[in-house]
Amino acid sequence: MALLEIEGLTGGYGPVQVLHELDLEVGDGEVVVVLGANGAGKTTTLRAISGMISAKGRITLGGTSIVGKSPERVARLGVAHVPQGRGTFTDLTVEENLRLGGYARKGGVAEDVQRWFTTFPRLEERRTQQAGNLSGGEQQMLAIARGLMSRPRLLLLDEPSLGLAPLITQDLFQRLSAINEEMGTAMLIVEQNANLALAIAKRAYVLETGSIISSGPASEVQQDDAVRKAYLGY
Ligand SMILES: Nc1ncnc2c1ncn2[C@@H]1O[C@H](COP(=O)(O)OP(=O)(O)OP(=O)(O)O)[C@@H](O)[C@H]1O
Ligand SMILES: [Mg+2]
Repeated sequence: MALLEIEGLTGGYGPVQVLHELDLEVGDGEVVVVLGANGAGKTTTLRAISGMISAKGRITLGGTSIVGKSPERVARLGVAHVPQGRGTFTDLTVEENLRLGGYARKGGVAEDVQRWFTTFPRLEERRTQQAGNLSGGEQQMLAIARGLMSRPRLLLLDEPSLGLAPLITQDLFQRLSAINEEMGTAMLIVEQNANLALAIAKRAYVLETGSIISSGPASEVQQDDAVRKAYLGY
């Protein structure tokens, strides 16, 4: 049984159906990437998983159904969602943001704050600064570190490279890969920066107008001619 199992997922916004009978899996500790053009339904897929929109079909996490559960319940069951466009509390300091990420935990929050400061030294240097004054890359690191503060089994990342310079993006993906190896945190990453995401992913899905049109090992998807033309630019 995979950690996350999705079967026949449909969902959208009011009368507008965006997702059409989607099937997708993320194994324990696996990094999976979802590629797709603007408007394909990538963000909507992540929102359906984390309970932010109503969805129909089967979604299970470790065998427990999470369809129709509130975002708080889904988070407590072990899913952390780092939304597109970051989503930090801009009026709070870096450290306050991290502490909030661990609010549902019983203990070990201070240790984990220190852990993420060690992983992201830039955040430690700016621990008392308001999150809203961080650079784009720093805010992205903060959003990810905050997500990890809940010690999730599954981390949902919505375009983590959005707005970041190429070198910072590269660095970010290396850190994500290291976190995955050290902690075994499974990750479902939605990305348009396909090359870097595919390089750290084990498997990939291609989403087009709310349906999966292709999937397989990341290395195979990377070789696919249509995928290369559409998402890799060569
Ligand atoms: N809150 C909303 N209300 C109504 N329609 C929405 C809403 N959010 C997204 N949509 C529509 O749902 C479809 C899928 O959007 P979604 O945000 O999932 O795409 P995406 O693949 O994440 O695109 P992008 O790469 O631009 O982030 C689009 O047609 C979009 O216009
Ligand atoms: Mg999106």
